Amino acid sequence: MFLCRNDTMKRKMKKIIIANYKMNPQTEREAVKLAHAEDREGVIIAPPFPFLIPVKKALKKAMLGAQDVSTVSPLAGGWGAYTGAVSASMLKKMGVQYVIVGHSERRGFFNETDVMIAKKIVIALEAKLKVILCVGENADVRAQGITPAKAFVAEQLQKDFSEIINNKSAFKNIIVAYEPIWAISTTLYRKDVTLEDAETMAEYIKEQYPVRVLYGGSVNARNASGLLAQKNIDGLLVGGMSLKLKEFKKIISNF
Ligand code: PGA
Repeated sequence: MFLCRNDTMKRKMKKIIIANYKMNPQTEREAVKLAHAEDREGVIIAPPFPFLIPVKKALKKAMLGAQDVSTVSPLAGGWGAYTGAVSASMLKKMGVQYVIVGHSERRGFFNETDVMIAKKIVIALEAKLKVILCVGENADVRAQGITPAKAFVAEQLQKDFSEIINNKSAFKNIIVAYEPIWAISTTLYRKDVTLEDAETMAEYIKEQYPVRVLYGGSVNARNASGLLAQKNIDGLLVGGMSLKLKEFKKIISNF
């Protein structure tokens, strides 16, 4: 575990906003139209795999992100008999710059384990992709208080970084997104995060690792400026509201 922050972290870095389209929109045409309208510096657009190339063509200022990557290593060729898999080297060749790894929906719906996530991080970095690692506790953990929530996040990070922990330079290419599951817009009985909660966890993560930290979970036009004003929050990961152009434009008007 790294206890001191990387010097580059101390320099003022521009905040970033990720538009995670998840499994939306329904057509390539809609995806391209949306991405084109959201094309701003500091924005990373992460559409579903089939829309990556058309979206890339529509972007001039924003960067391109993928929502997942397979565990097939580019060092093993990054190709072969792996039905359904999309390799890191394929993504890189398509012009993808960032990849989201460990989203709670992948952990929950697709049974992704920390072992798989740790592997994906190594593989993405080998292919020269930047990693956006999502972590965050569920409502049951949070109900026990901030200390168990911190312990949960610390354990996720420790497991997910287990393969790179001795490679300090790897952390330059990693961003952590703190996404408490209980605050995500599609979670049943969701709750609003407080600025204090989000900032406390971002600070806690930075105390342990030299990474930039984003907040994600029901980011909208009303809460974006407050979140972005927090000292330890380096940007936002936006799900549902990245599909609503008016709302997203208001969110990005804050930076
Ligand atoms: P949300 O999604 O903004 O719709 O809550 C965030 C996420 O799950 O990445």
